[in-house]
Order: sequence, then C-alpha cells, then structure tokens
Amino acid sequence: MLRVLVCVSGGGTNLQALIDGVESGQIRNTEIVRVISNNRNAYALTRAKAHGIEGVCVSPGDFSDRETFYHAFLQAVDEASPDLIVLAGFLVVVPEAMIQKYRNRIINIHPSLIPSFCGTGYYGLKVHEKALERGVQITGATVHMVDEGTDTGPILLQKAVRVEPGDTPRTLQRRVMEEAEWELLPQAVDLFACGKIIVEHGRIMIAQ
Ligand code: GAR
Repeated sequence: MLRVLVCVSGGGTNLQALIDGVESGQIRNTEIVRVISNNRNAYALTRAKAHGIEGVCVSPGDFSDRETFYHAFLQAVDEASPDLIVLAGFLVVVPEAMIQKYRNRIINIHPSLIPSFCGTGYYGLKVHEKALERGVQITGATVHMVDEGTDTGPILLQKAVRVEPGDTPRTLQRRVMEEAEWELLPQAVDLFACGKIIVEHGRIMIAQ
C-alpha cells in the first residue's frame, strides 16, 4: 500500500478527488494516511474527517518564527511515514529539509501549463487572472515533482483546457479543476502506487 500524505490550505477539492479515487478503486493500492493543513478553517479538514482520515493543523501563526514552524511541520510529516506527499492547493513554501528528505516523493498540482503562469506569486485564482489578462486561448494544469524552486521540478502530467469567451477567473478556475486537475492528480497518485514513475536526470519517465 502506498502511504499518501496530503497537504492542503483551502477548499480541498483536489483532496476530494483523491479520496474519491481511492474509494472507487481508480487509485489502486493507496491509503491516504494523513492530511496536514496550515489553516485551521480549511474545508479540506472537514472533508478528511468525513472520510475517517486524520487531519492535522500546523499553522505558522502558532509559532514564534519560521524555523520553529518548519520543525513542527516536518515532524507532522515524518509521523505519517509517507511514501508520497501530495501538495494539493498547499500555499506554504515547503522547507528545504523536507525536499531533501523526500526527494522525488513530493508532487504538486498547479493550475496552469508550466512554465506559463507559475512561480512566486502565482497561486489559486491569481493564476487564472493572469492567464485571462494575457489573453491565452489555452491553459490547463500540471502535476510536477517538487524541487527547491517554485514550480520548477520535473513535469509528470499536463492537460490543456480551452479558455471560453466571457470567462472570468472563477469560471476558468472551475473548468481547469473539472477538466484537468481532478483527473490528473488521481492519475499521478495511481502511477506512483503502481511503481510506474522513473526519475532520471531531472526528467520523469512513465513505465508502460
Ligand atoms: C487548485 O486550483 C490548485 O491547483 C491550486 O490551488 C487550488 C486549490 O484548490 N494550487 C496552486 O495554485 C499552487 N501553486 P482545492 O483546495 O479546492 O484543491
């Protein structure tokens, strides 16, 4: 069984897609062992509880400085003994010590086609605002491995989504979630669970 830890900050629709995928058998051989949120009020924690998954809040505001927060966060991660860590709308920069310890075992979902509309300052609705401002006709979502940079790790899966006339950041966000994110993230976890992910020289290969 692949032990998956999911880190969240908000609504948790991507977490829900993972829960549904595990429960339906679309994601094979996987258990979501813990959900960590930096935000006590994240609806994602309610989703976890409703499915009998342990939810833990580790909030930067509860600690005197970043280092102490990171220490507590890493401890909450280690306690779960994860095989795979999924950042599913997690809006905190993860500590470097965690990236080193769990190298090639942390994935992130980003709501654009990387390398467009990514990096520092590009998260959540802002990504879609920028895409609409630029007037792109195609956007999408990316699942990538997390390295020391912001959205710079090797790309695992991508899916394109069309921008429609009259789209607002919210309608576009919803379409990207429905058509791409909720499909790609369960698929990525299943690939891990089936041992199909090979990382070589900073590139990901998917075994057939
Ligand atoms: C998702 O659109 C996810 O791609 C994005 O935050 C949203 C979280 O929604 N993540 C980022 O922007 C990371 N840079 P959710 O809480 O409903 O899953």
